[in-house]
Amino acid sequence: MDIYVFNNDYEASQYAADIVRETLVSGTEVFGLATGSTPEKLYKILTETDLDFSQATAINLDEYYGLAPDNEQSYAYFMHKYLFSGKKFGNFYIPNGLNTNAEEETSNYDNIIENNPIDLQLLGIGVNGHFGFNEPGSPLDSKTRLVDLTSETIQANRRFFNSIDEVPTQAYSMGVSSVMGAKRIVMLAFGEQKAKAVQMTAKGPVTAEVPASILQTHSNSIIILDQAAAQFLDPSDYQTL
Ligand code: GLP
Repeated sequence: MDIYVFNNDYEASQYAADIVRETLVSGTEVFGLATGSTPEKLYKILTETDLDFSQATAINLDEYYGLAPDNEQSYAYFMHKYLFSGKKFGNFYIPNGLNTNAEEETSNYDNIIENNPIDLQLLGIGVNGHFGFNEPGSPLDSKTRLVDLTSETIQANRRFFNSIDEVPTQAYSMGVSSVMGAKRIVMLAFGEQKAKAVQMTAKGPVTAEVPASILQTHSNSIIILDQAAAQFLDPSDYQTL
């Protein structure tokens, strides 16, 4: 796992956009995409490029259970707002948060991933080391499923909602093994609130208690950080570009 540290989140996002460009022009067809405030700058940069995603497929990591795509807090709404309104993809998949038949929804989604193996997976990270909505304790061999969110995650995501009561308590999420099946994984983390999770992810033991730590075992994974998120790492752990 290579770690790159930049002066700020803009430079870091620019580097991530370069990776997207490089992989798209080399024939990458399937992108695994993430939501959250972390990839917003990256998506903005991508919408301002001349890159053509019309032959590419996007598969999103997760969606809140119970939220319709036109709900402003849904991840479907987020993706349209920050990326798809500016860049048209050939195909776009995101779990249907309104499907109450979890077995049907998750097996459909696993089929989509199986039929469209992910070339480049973009990830953010939660303060407790989750990615997607793979909360601590998520089995390392997990596939898409309906998960219960931890109170820590509900609290962290509360800022996007009017009140804590409006934050969904469950979500559909690609599993740990679904993500690990991607050919290449690029994780982004910005800000001091992510520094502890980054330290545990990059330097701690590989454990289901810190789901992102499994990235250490992926043959082609990188972490892109700003200075604040890298504050608990030793300078010998990373490269600065
Ligand atoms: C949510 C999402 C994750 C995201 C995390 C951090 O839990 N399911 O995919 O990485 O939030 O979000 P942010 O980038 O806003 O800190």
